[in-house]
Amino acid sequence: MKKIFALFFMLCPLFSMAQNIIPQPSSIVTNKGEFDLKEATQIGYNDKSLAWLAKYLESQIYLTCKVKIKHPNGVHPSFYLRLKKYANREPKGSYKLSANAGGVLIESDNKEGLFYGVQSLLQLINIHTKTISEVEINDAPRYQWRGFMLDESRHFFGKEKVKQLIDLMARYKLNKFHWHLTDSHGWRLQIKKYPKLTTIGGIGNFTDSAATAQYYTQADIREMVDYAKRRFIDVIPEIDMPGHATAANKAYPQFSGGSVAGYPNFTFDPSKEETYKYLSTIIKETNSLFPAKMIHLGGDEVFLGIQAWLNKPDITAVMTKNNFKSPTDLEHYFFRRMGDTVIKLGSKILCWDEAVETNLPADKTIVFWWRQNKPQSLKLALSKNYQVVLCPRLPMYFDFVQDSTHTSGRKWDSTTVAGYHLQGTYNTVQDVYNFPDKYLDGQDLTSKNIIGVQANLWTETVGTEKRLDYLLLPRMAALAEATWSAESNKNEGTFNDKLKAEIEWYKKTGLYYYNPFNPAEHPEVVDFAPKKQIKD
Ligand code: ACM
Repeated sequence: MKKIFALFFMLCPLFSMAQNIIPQPSSIVTNKGEFDLKEATQIGYNDKSLAWLAKYLESQIYLTCKVKIKHPNGVHPSFYLRLKKYANREPKGSYKLSANAGGVLIESDNKEGLFYGVQSLLQLINIHTKTISEVEINDAPRYQWRGFMLDESRHFFGKEKVKQLIDLMARYKLNKFHWHLTDSHGWRLQIKKYPKLTTIGGIGNFTDSAATAQYYTQADIREMVDYAKRRFIDVIPEIDMPGHATAANKAYPQFSGGSVAGYPNFTFDPSKEETYKYLSTIIKETNSLFPAKMIHLGGDEVFLGIQAWLNKPDITAVMTKNNFKSPTDLEHYFFRRMGDTVIKLGSKILCWDEAVETNLPADKTIVFWWRQNKPQSLKLALSKNYQVVLCPRLPMYFDFVQDSTHTSGRKWDSTTVAGYHLQGTYNTVQDVYNFPDKYLDGQDLTSKNIIGVQANLWTETVGTEKRLDYLLLPRMAALAEATWSAESNKNEGTFNDKLKAEIEWYKKTGLYYYNPFNPAEHPEVVDFAPKKQIKD
C-alpha cells in the first residue's frame, strides 16, 4: 500500500490539476510551488516590438488583482516574454508558459502566441492570494479561424461596447471579428463617396424605424481596427448583397431591384452597370479601411426579394440577353462580378453558404456554413475545395435562447436532418461546448478545408448591452473551447468547474450573464415583447 502511495506522489507533478484557463490548453502540468505577485518586478522582453505587450500585461495584472509591478526598472524581471526561433515553425498562436517561484516565462516563435500566453497567465492569477501556481503549459490552437460575428444593423451598440466585446474575445483567444455593418434595418459604415448611405440609410433600427442615424465614421473604423489589431484580432466587414439591401436602397433608390410584399427594396438592381460601379466604389472604400484583406459579401436569403426582378423590364431584358433561365442565374452572375471586384483589390471573398452555387474561385473564397438544416451545402462547399467556417444556427447562433424557459429570442423546429446530429430548438452552453465533434459527419469534420468555427449574434431582439451580455455569456466561454481546444482535451465536467469560476469573474467585472448552474440568479433580459416567434 505504502508503495502505491509513494508512486502516486512521485507521479503527482505529471498530473494536471485543474486550472481555470478557458480555453483548455493542449497540455498543462501543475507543481506545488507558487509565485507571489506581490514580489513582482519588471516585465522583460527580448525584442523591442514587445514593449506594447509588456505594458498591456502590466496594466492587465493591475486590473485583474490590483497588484502594481513593484520595481519597474529591476534588473531581474519576474515576467519574461521571449520571441524565439524554433527549428520547426510552430502553428500561429502556439506558446509555452512556465511559472515557478521565481517568475513566469512565456515563449513563442510568433507574437500571437506570446499574446495568448499572456491571456493564460492572467487567468492563472489567484486573485485572493495574489499568487500564480507553478505550472508548465504547452499550447496551440485547434483552428486558425476562431470567430465571433456581431450584427449592428438591427441594433447599434457603438465603440465602447464593441471594444469591450473585443477584450472578451481576446480573453478567450478568439481572433476574427466579423462585423455585420449593413442590412435592411440600417447602414452603419460611412462611405465618403455616398454620404446618404449613413445619413439616410443609418436612420432607424429593427424596432424603431425613425431612430436617429447611427453609424461608424471612417475614423471610428480605423480606431476599432487598431484596437482589435493590438489584440491579434482581424476585423472583417460584411457588406451584404444583393439582398438585405433595404437601408442602402432607402438612401439611393436608383439602385434598388424592386419590392415584393414584406420585403421592400430588398435587393440591388443587377441589371444596371451603374449598380456595379456604385457597389465597386463602396467595396473599394471599405477595403481600404480593413487591413485583414477580407470582405464578406453576404449573399444570403436573396430568395426573399428576388421575385421582384421578374417585374422589372430592365432586369428581365438582361436575363433574356444572357439566356438566364431564372432570377437565380442572374443572382449568381451578380455575385461573381462583385466577387471579381474583391479579388482585384487583392482581398478574399467571404460569403454565406448560399453562394456555394456561384462558382467563385475556390482559392480566394471562404464559405460560412450557417444552414444546419442543409448539410448538403457544407458537403458541396467542401467538395468544391472551398475553405469553410462552421457557424450553423444550431448551436452557433447566440440570438437563439439558451434555456427552455426563456421567451425572447429565436427557436428552431426540431426537424431531423440526416447528416447533422444536433437536433433541438435552442442553444445551450453545453451544445456550444460540444461543437463540432458531436454533430458533424466524420468525413466532414476531418476535412482540412474546415478552417474554423464562429458564433453569430443577430440583434433583432437585442436593444440593450445587458441583453447582449446575457446572450453572450457564458456561451462565449464555450465557443472558446469549441474553437481552440482539441476534442481529446475537452471534458464537460472540467469545463463546468472552470465555468463556475468564470461566472465569479463575470460578477466581479460587472457583466450580466445567464447562470446555467443557477438560472434564477439573473432573470432573462427581454428588451422587446416578442411580437412573433422568429423561426427562420
Ligand atoms: C443568415 O443568418 N441570414 C446568414
